[in-house]
Amino acid sequence: MKVGVLGAGGMGRTVIEHLHKIDGVEAVVACDLSEECLADVCEHYDIDGTTDVEEILGDSDVPLVFVTASTLGHKPLTVSALEAGKAVMCEKPMATKLADAREMVEAAERTGGFLQIGFELRYSLLYTKVKEWVDQGLLGEVMNTHCYYATSASRPKGSWRNRKSSSGGMFGEKLSHYVDLPRWWVGAKVSSVYSVCAPNVISHYQVRDNYHTTYRFDNGAVSHLSFIMGPPATFEGDSLQNVVSQQQGDGHALSYLVVGTKGAAAISVFDRTIKRWAFSKTPERFQSDWVEDLTWEEPEDHFYFHNTFDQTADIVRRVTEGLPPMTPPRDSYETTRLCFAAEESADTGRIVTMDEFDA
Ligand SMILES: NC(=O)c1ccc[n+]([C@@H]2O[C@H](COP(=O)([O-])OP(=O)(O)OC[C@H]3O[C@@H](n4cnc5c(N)ncnc54)[C@H](O)[C@@H]3O)[C@@H](O)[C@H]2O)c1
Repeated sequence: MKVGVLGAGGMGRTVIEHLHKIDGVEAVVACDLSEECLADVCEHYDIDGTTDVEEILGDSDVPLVFVTASTLGHKPLTVSALEAGKAVMCEKPMATKLADAREMVEAAERTGGFLQIGFELRYSLLYTKVKEWVDQGLLGEVMNTHCYYATSASRPKGSWRNRKSSSGGMFGEKLSHYVDLPRWWVGAKVSSVYSVCAPNVISHYQVRDNYHTTYRFDNGAVSHLSFIMGPPATFEGDSLQNVVSQQQGDGHALSYLVVGTKGAAAISVFDRTIKRWAFSKTPERFQSDWVEDLTWEEPEDHFYFHNTFDQTADIVRRVTEGLPPMTPPRDSYETTRLCFAAEESADTGRIVTMDEFDA
């Protein structure tokens, strides 16, 4: 298979590296608007490249493209690729506007094409372990989740990520992963969301640097996300992508507590811990027993953190075998809708119900 990579910046390079290691991928062709970036990538990986996306979309030898351009490019590239008959994997966040994300889903449904959004944490072993426990009934019905995420202000001044118009806002751009997971574990529809944010500490960001966001599911379950960017020690790039040196102990934190009717789980990226408790009722008390305590070694970090390799390999396999996406695009759209509703709540200071929030 020959695979197109549309957008050859940081994420495009990651995908190209993965594609080189995946059986059945015979050639990779890259596209980027920046000639300089393209030349560098093509030389480094010894692949062909073009600044004209139509060259790739018109190539009948390319059945699959990865949309790894910065977010403003996601909708036009995804819709054109689907209309050209390509299977598409598009990075999160889906788009800078909810209406654009909806157009992408509608294009997939209209063309009958393959569209998967890059929520690779659904492949990451840390989070699939919780899903496995949920599916095995070990946690019962998930009722309560809490995520605490603290990270440094890794984005340099001038980055497209720091502007709402080009990133769509911090919630979708960074936090969409961390509300997608509770949606997956709880398995119910989100009914309302409420965000409270302090004024930014990082004053040059035109997007928010902090959120306390609580959302309710229609089965009564509740999830909370506390996010703060700034205090942890400054680290070049994304600390989660750095699988060699751990940021544990310098203020970086990324943990979940997941509480169900029969048990609970606690996971922490920087501590490399996965724990499970089982609940029982004795005549005297509610009993909780610590029953599992798992960890992993540094060389496996990639597979426990942002497992983009297994996601890329799975997408190649699914397209080769004619299988549907792991997650239907409508489901990823629901996560996207929640992100925009969380921003709307932060803007207006009120609880936003999902029913009213569609456009
Ligand atoms: N899944 C994840 O965890 C994860 C991690 C990092 C980035 N991302 C997402 O991946 C996307 C790319 O991020 P990045 O870090 O690689 O950004 P980047 O700024 O490093 O690279 C983006 C590249 O896209 C190119 N580009 C922009 N519009 C284009 C178009 N229409 N056609 C072709 N090329 C175009 C730019 O020239 C640039 O080289 C973003 O949407 C980002 O949110 C996801």
